[in-house]
Amino acid sequence: MFMLSEAFTMTRSTRNLHTAISILAYAALYPNTVKAFDNGVGRLPAMGFNAWNAYACNVNESLIVQTAQDMQKLGLQDVGYTQINLDDCWALRNRSSTGEIQSDPTRFPDMTNLTSTLHDMGYKAGIYSDSGWFTCAGFAGSFEHEEQDALTFQSWGFDFLKYDNCAIPFDDVIREGMVGKYQRMSDALVVVSQQTGTDFVFSLCQWGWNQVWLWGASLSHSWRIDGDIEANWDSLASIINTVSFITQATNFYGRNDLDMLEIGNGNLTYDESKTHFTAWALVKAPLLIGTDVATLTQQNVEILSNQEIIAINQDSVYGTSISPFRWGINADFTFNTTFPAQYWSGPSENGTVFMLINTLSEPADMFFNLTESPWTRAGIQYSVRDLWTHTDNGTAVRNFTAYEVPSHGVVALLMQQDGPEPPGLMPLCAGEAESQCTAENGTSVG
Ligand SMILES: *[C@@H]1O[C@H](CO)[C@@H](O)[C@H](O)[C@H]1NC(C)=O
Ligand SMILES: *[C@@H]1O[C@H](CO)[C@@H](O)[C@H](O)[C@H]1NC(C)=O
Ligand SMILES: *[C@@H]1O[C@H](CO)[C@@H](O)[C@H](O)[C@H]1NC(C)=O
Ligand SMILES: *[C@@H]1O[C@H](CO)[C@@H](O)[C@H](O)[C@H]1NC(C)=O
Ligand SMILES: *[C@@H]1O[C@H](CO)[C@@H](O)[C@H](O)[C@H]1NC(C)=O
Ligand SMILES: *[C@@H]1O[C@H](CO)[C@@H](O)[C@H](O)[C@H]1NC(C)=O
Ligand SMILES: *[C@@H]1O[C@H](CO)[C@@H](O)[C@H](O)[C@H]1NC(C)=O
Ligand SMILES: *[C@@H]1O[C@H](CO)[C@@H](O)[C@H](O)[C@H]1NC(C)=O
Ligand SMILES: *[C@@H]1O[C@H](CO)[C@@H](O)[C@H](O)[C@H]1NC(C)=O
Ligand SMILES: *[C@@H]1O[C@H](CO)[C@@H](O)[C@H](O)[C@H]1NC(C)=O
Repeated sequence: MFMLSEAFTMTRSTRNLHTAISILAYAALYPNTVKAFDNGVGRLPAMGFNAWNAYACNVNESLIVQTAQDMQKLGLQDVGYTQINLDDCWALRNRSSTGEIQSDPTRFPDMTNLTSTLHDMGYKAGIYSDSGWFTCAGFAGSFEHEEQDALTFQSWGFDFLKYDNCAIPFDDVIREGMVGKYQRMSDALVVVSQQTGTDFVFSLCQWGWNQVWLWGASLSHSWRIDGDIEANWDSLASIINTVSFITQATNFYGRNDLDMLEIGNGNLTYDESKTHFTAWALVKAPLLIGTDVATLTQQNVEILSNQEIIAINQDSVYGTSISPFRWGINADFTFNTTFPAQYWSGPSENGTVFMLINTLSEPADMFFNLTESPWTRAGIQYSVRDLWTHTDNGTAVRNFTAYEVPSHGVVALLMQQDGPEPPGLMPLCAGEAESQCTAENGTSVG
């Protein structure tokens, strides 16, 4: 027992070290070199529902339609959740005599009817398959049937494909690495597009193997960066830590996928749920609700419906993620799954976005200088918008302090340029620039 858990811990920390090294190598060697999978769809992050975490295999056509109706009633479709995605367990284990993948006749008697019902309701419809022999739950996978299955999914009316990583064929069968294994379906979707005019959003569920953030964008619209999310703070903190090193991988048409939104599941507190939603939205991850929407509280519906934060996730001018500008508790670039980076920012259509996360188990004041962010201008003051209280919070001159941020809580701010800062402020050059501050006549001030 003790030995086993020790072995598990070792595996886990070895994996973390491996991830940290590969992430740093990526940051150094591959700035923005990956070509996007731009087939005309999937420019912005998907928003909607995925059936797995809510229903697992207890899923069927009427439950999916019921979910779509519930999302309308709760106003979730109106704020942008317009994708309804099946996950595993819709198929039979065996193919037909002609090799066609078949839906389970009890659970999903008529896929065409399902997609047209969803389309009539104003949704897009998503389906799931696997790059290996079988899905993770043991139903037919698409290996060596990629084009055939993609055509089947197209003929049923689906618009989105999530593609999993279970039941990998032996090396002497596949003779490909991870990239080649996923390239097969990516190529098949291109063929289907040429044949039928249907373009799929392609979502890799590949758990972050083989540095998928290096190559995922060349053949898909999103790629999972980590194992399955769990509805507790440790899992959220660990995923936030992972993404903090690879934010450069995200842009229009391709993005890090942090897994489903677990708001309403497990033991997440109100503040943790807000942090979860904020981080996922502002790193431009897909926003796919993983909870049984019929059980969502009004408070959780309100979190998921924060339109000012959704607007940034769906920003049509900037496709890039926010990134940490200071780790905070730990030194910059420290890989720590419990205490990830705390101070983040990024550009948006309407100004600079800031996200502050209090990773401590007690409330804390959180301070930053504006010019710590690469997306602000020295000598300019900024108006402050709080994206959770939906209030204008005055003007920030040189710095900002959020007081008493709750444990595991978040602050999300939008700052807009608001004219020159007042004259006479000291030091003459704020922040990092102070050490190089120089007058025009050459007198060094710093
Ligand atoms: C669909 O699933 C729900 C929830 O598991 C169940 O109550 C219902 O009877 C199922 N319907 C059909 C047609 O199987
Ligand atoms: C599925 O295929 C396997 C292997 O060919 C076969 O043994 C099994 O009987 C089939 N199951 C059904 C329900 O047809
Ligand atoms: C089509 O779907 C609707 C909504 O789920 C359902 O009421 C209807 O019975 C289905 N029709 C067929 C032919 O399966
Ligand atoms: C929440 O659940 C996780 C396991 O799912 C557990 O490790 C953690 O201690 C729980 N946290 C609280 C505050 O109950
Ligand atoms: C920018 O502001 C406009 C006007 O309020 C709003 O419609 C839009 O969604 C905002 N965009 C972002 C990315 O916040
Ligand atoms: C994570 O950071 C905390 C706070 O600095 C530190 O106490 C802890 O030892 C770190 N954990 C690891 C695994 O480095
Ligand atoms: C924050 O900026 C103000 C000017 O607005 C300045 O007076 C104050 O000293 C700064 N605080 C810190 C800690 O740098
Ligand atoms: C912004 O102002 C509101 C209303 O006064 C307040 O509740 C909130 O805490 C402020 N936000 C920050 C980050 O200080
Ligand atoms: C903020 O700016 C002040 C004034 O330039 C400087 O003394 C301080 O070290 C800076 N703090 C951080 C966290 O950058
Ligand atoms: C250089 O410029 C600074 C700032 O304007 C001024 O304070 C200083 O007296 C000047 N020095 C000389 C040698 O002119």
